[in-house]
Amino acid sequence: MCGIVGYIGEDQAAPILLDGLEKLEYRGYDSAGIAVFDGKEIEIKKAKGRLKVLEELTHDGANMPGSVGIGHTRWATHGEPSDINAHPQYNKDKTIAVVHNGIIENYQKIKDKLTAKGYSFISETDTESVAQLLDYYYQGNPLEAIIKVMLRIEGSYSLGIMFADHPDRVYAARKDSPLIAGIASDGSYIASDVTAILKHTRDVYYIDNQEIACLSKDSISFFNIDGEPVEKESKHIDWDANAAEKGGYEHFMLKEMYEQPKTVRDTLSPRIRKDHVVIDDLGMSNEDIRNIRRLHIVACGSAYHTGVTARYVYEGMARIPVDVDVASEFRYRDPILDSRDLVIIISQSGETADTLAALRLAKKKGIPTLAIVNVVGSSIAREADSVMYTWAGPEIAVATTKAYSAQLICHYLLAIRFAKARGEINDDQEKAYIADLEKLPDQIEMLLNNKNRIQKFANRYVGAKDIFFIGRGIDYAISLEGSLKLKEISYIHSEAYPAGELKHGTISLIEDQTLVTAIATQKDLYPKTVSNIVEVRTRGAFVLAVTNEGDTDMEENADYVIYIPQTNRYFTNSLAIIPLQLFAYYVAVGKGCDVDKPRNLAKSVTVE
Ligand code: AGP
Repeated sequence: MCGIVGYIGEDQAAPILLDGLEKLEYRGYDSAGIAVFDGKEIEIKKAKGRLKVLEELTHDGANMPGSVGIGHTRWATHGEPSDINAHPQYNKDKTIAVVHNGIIENYQKIKDKLTAKGYSFISETDTESVAQLLDYYYQGNPLEAIIKVMLRIEGSYSLGIMFADHPDRVYAARKDSPLIAGIASDGSYIASDVTAILKHTRDVYYIDNQEIACLSKDSISFFNIDGEPVEKESKHIDWDANAAEKGGYEHFMLKEMYEQPKTVRDTLSPRIRKDHVVIDDLGMSNEDIRNIRRLHIVACGSAYHTGVTARYVYEGMARIPVDVDVASEFRYRDPILDSRDLVIIISQSGETADTLAALRLAKKKGIPTLAIVNVVGSSIAREADSVMYTWAGPEIAVATTKAYSAQLICHYLLAIRFAKARGEINDDQEKAYIADLEKLPDQIEMLLNNKNRIQKFANRYVGAKDIFFIGRGIDYAISLEGSLKLKEISYIHSEAYPAGELKHGTISLIEDQTLVTAIATQKDLYPKTVSNIVEVRTRGAFVLAVTNEGDTDMEENADYVIYIPQTNRYFTNSLAIIPLQLFAYYVAVGKGCDVDKPRNLAKSVTVE
């Protein structure tokens, strides 16, 4: 998720572009750049680092004269943050400049085709393939070239494009990534979202999929993919800038929860090809995978919890033995590792100190390391032998939600890949798992949209002192994360237990009306979990049960039941976490907690 802006008008473009990018930095902040037509040619300035580096480089835009330009703030996906990989990307003689938000999935094929025709590429980005392909098709008519390129690129994109020989126009195109346009008294604008242009105009056009916009300083015309003009209505925005940054959501955490369907889709789709799981960045052959003796999953906090879930999936589906460790223990425990093992490191930020130290320990012991990371170019991403990125985009709220869900997806994909390579599953089973995975985004969306019941229920527990979570098997793993979400944003004491462990002591904590959240999605463990529910209810607990659609007999056993759609037994955590996130969020909001910046917590713990 990056931020793009564009402007053409009476005023100097560079300061306006930089100001717009400032408002979009929450979308990506590892590098930035702008292109401005200075009357003779397109001048481009870009720099690695936060926007202020570019502001200093351009003296807040003062040394880039011109009233037409495009700009970009980056969240790297293809190619580490660097001056070269920053946007705008351009063609050989800088007569075409492009800023892009999204992922061009077939960029390698385009690069190979154009390289064979004598083109050379200077960056590692997927976006440069668009600039070079525009160059390849450009015969003097920008609209025609843009359409030819849109018909050949796959993936998601919002593009801002400038052509040096059309200095009185800025072009934009969209598919799946957000893009808006707006006209103000001082000119015309495009941007990834309204935050960037709110101070100039509150009347915006939402550019639809496969649509192109052509901006002049006092008009905007729209075209469809056949080049036909399209009439559009503008919409009036009455949000304040702060709300706009959150996309109209009250908190970044809620916004990021509602981004999970897209995050899961974005993390899944590049790794599904013709009913097979293909993980390009794994760097392991089938034989390497067959030779894996044991997996060691190491991480902290919520990332560690995905490891607890994943153990059930790798052992169950691929029959590979798994150890799961919190990194702050692993690094000092002198763990017994074998060169045939694989150490899987998980981190949203890629900078968590204990997790980084665990990675370095494994490397020092000569053990292969695979990292599941969200931040491209982070320390863990750079130092691991191979990296699998979660395409969650920047996660602003301290309490992780979308990155957690994307990490689970990576584990599922790895487990299917490992199980296939080790002959534990066949083509049909692989196909069936993939079908269940591809249903998850819509199922998550459905659960998020049905939030009212859990919101009403959560309001009853704003004053709670202790809340317990129980589950068996993979349900125990999700109860760990449900409990952490509640603790970290609502400051309510909460514990998660394997349900069968209660009677060995903890059940003494259950008092009248103590809330116990029981997760019961595993068919083979369901009767056992129900008996644990009965056990705590007889001691006065009020039980909220999260179970599968159709398990209606739970109504007799629990006090309040939330149903999740049916899915594969290995993937239930991806659905069960949604009502648990919503519960924690609405309890915390009900208590008036600062949900996005909880006390005593940092987004990334980089200190020892
Ligand atoms: C989760 O909501 C917390 N922010 C925290 O537990 C986090 O998961 C942990 O600090 C690990 O961070 P990482 O994924 O960036 O390494």
